[in-house]
Amino acid sequence: MKQLKRVWGAGLLLALVLPSYLLADERGVGDVVYVPTPQVVVDELLRMAKVGPQDFIIDLGSGDGRMVRTAAKKFGARGFGVDLSDDLLRESNALAISDGVSDRAHFVKENLFETDLSKATVVTTYLLPEMNQKLRPKILALKPGTRVVAHDYHMGDWKPDEDKELIVPEKKVGNPGRSFLYLWIVPAKVGGRWQAQINSPVHPGALELAFSQTFQKLEGTAKTGGQPIALLAPKIEGDQLSFAFFTKPGDNLTRHQFTGTVKGDTIDGTVKVGDGASQQQLAWSAKVQQRVAGPQ
Ligand SMILES: C[S@@+](CC[C@H](N)C(=O)[O-])C[C@H]1O[C@@H](n2cnc3c(N)ncnc32)[C@H](O)[C@@H]1O
Repeated sequence: MKQLKRVWGAGLLLALVLPSYLLADERGVGDVVYVPTPQVVVDELLRMAKVGPQDFIIDLGSGDGRMVRTAAKKFGARGFGVDLSDDLLRESNALAISDGVSDRAHFVKENLFETDLSKATVVTTYLLPEMNQKLRPKILALKPGTRVVAHDYHMGDWKPDEDKELIVPEKKVGNPGRSFLYLWIVPAKVGGRWQAQINSPVHPGALELAFSQTFQKLEGTAKTGGQPIALLAPKIEGDQLSFAFFTKPGDNLTRHQFTGTVKGDTIDGTVKVGDGASQQQLAWSAKVQQRVAGPQ
């Protein structure tokens, strides 16, 4: 009995002094141990990414497959997960069958750094920050509007579009008792100079736009011949661009509120000129003249 007490005591002491990652499930293989994301966190991450039946989700380092299985079962999405552990892959594919989603969720053996992400509309990770950072250039090159959700670990200086903290009493590993949830939306690349045309009676037709872009953060100017004027509230979310500026025809300040969709080297959209009853809605478009690459 004394012997047993000593073993228990040693076990408790070990649990207290061991780094929490050593308490993880031993079945993980590769660059990070296997720790499952608590189900409540999986649900919330998928809600943050607004996952729906039109989505294709890829979980990088899929563990028991809960991200993709939940996306299929509760949100109607399709997708796959990759892992290096035969044991976890077998379990994930078996659970996909018992969940009734094996036609929309499957799991394959692959190094997550080599996975083709081109089909993804949503990418999910529960990886170490340096792994997220290594994946970052590949993620930023995905189709604008692709959502990325990550559990607990960030993407360095690419700040999230949304983050939240959940209290998760059953969580024992990583940050015990709490989870950090992050969402990023891949922004279209607009950094550089653009030549724009609008069809407005109160504005010269040609317009030069310049954007400086740091991930989803934008600053910019518009030039209609004279001095460049700063853009008001320039914003890029996925492929959706918006900004405004005022011009002064006669002595009246006239607001120009632009929205547009970025498609590679062109932008097409509408501009609302003026306010109230006299407001006009006109088409505008732009073509890139010179690109300035942002951080990757
Ligand atoms: C922290 S777990 C996350 C599991 C699951 N995504 C979740 O959120 O519940 C990380 C997983 O990544 C896998 N893994 C580690 N390095 C990998 C690599 N280079 N390629 C593929 N999978 C890897 C591990 O086997 C482990 O199952």
